[in-house]
Amino acid sequence: MQNVINELSAKVEQSLATVNSSETLSAFWQEYLSKNGKVTGLMKELRNVPAAERPAAGKIINEFKQQVQAKYDEAAQKVSRAEMDARNAAETVDITMPAKIRPQGALHPITLVKNQIIDAFAGMGFQVFDAPEIDDDDHNFTRLNVPKDHPARDMQDTFYLTEDLLLRTQTSNGQIRTMDRVKPPIKVLIPGRVFRSDSDATHSPMFHQMEGLVVDKGITLCDLQGMLNELVKQLFGNGTRTRLRPSYFPFTEPSVEVDVSCFECGGCGCSLCKGTGWIEVLGGGVVNRRVLENCNIDPDEYSGFAFGIGIERIAMLKYGINNMGLLFENDLRFLKQFQE
Ligand code: DAH
Repeated sequence: MQNVINELSAKVEQSLATVNSSETLSAFWQEYLSKNGKVTGLMKELRNVPAAERPAAGKIINEFKQQVQAKYDEAAQKVSRAEMDARNAAETVDITMPAKIRPQGALHPITLVKNQIIDAFAGMGFQVFDAPEIDDDDHNFTRLNVPKDHPARDMQDTFYLTEDLLLRTQTSNGQIRTMDRVKPPIKVLIPGRVFRSDSDATHSPMFHQMEGLVVDKGITLCDLQGMLNELVKQLFGNGTRTRLRPSYFPFTEPSVEVDVSCFECGGCGCSLCKGTGWIEVLGGGVVNRRVLENCNIDPDEYSGFAFGIGIERIAMLKYGINNMGLLFENDLRFLKQFQE
């Protein structure tokens, strides 16, 4: 037995000398120490040893096995340290290298103004509602008191998709959609895209509006002006005031055009306000009784106000943008100027 062990021991030494990686280490273990390995296999040889010598033979086999295991453990430690050192060397990080600069985006001026308007009205208890961009004639016109053949339809050049379906020309369709869904008290904002067949320096076939609608008991034009005063202070600065001028919209009666005192010159007259001291910013009025009736709301019990704001117009006024096209070209040099 001792001879067999001596022979195997020489082989083990030879093999150990070639172990230099986890692969060769594992091959070594497979060859000698695994269940079918040569060292483990020595125990089977005990069968051929005379019974009297077996205990002594078993003892040397065990001792040999422990030695080989110890050598294997030592080699395993060396390999793992060497491999870790190699990885550390290969993966060194140069901590003095400058970081990659990731360009930061900015909100689009239209989004900024939309958010500013929402913030102002959210503070007064308004909710934000949505209405479809593709709607039918009924919601965009008829129930807003603009029947077929009404001259007011000519005020807005409409993109028709079918005889009945169209791209909404105004977020006012959201008034009808809202009153169909919820009953008073109502206090909502409806932001969104609108579409008209119109295109020049101050018109784009797609632009953005913000509709406002309040319906409750005892609502008057004073409530509209009170809330708009709050809005313009937040949009254009504390000293800004509003002025209402009579106007006409089919869905409001009376209707008003709302001006703000010029935030550039404070009202003395400058090029922005064309010397008048006032700038027109939106349309609104008291919700027409017929519109309430069209939504099954009793106009003798409830009244309301509505308004519509052109978001591009506010953005152009507020940020001094003189060409509406700039708002749609997505030129980063332009857009980056509005980071707040
Ligand atoms: N929808 C109108 C437009 O697009 C704007 C408007 C005016 C909306 C008066 C209103 C309103 O709700 O009361 O020109």
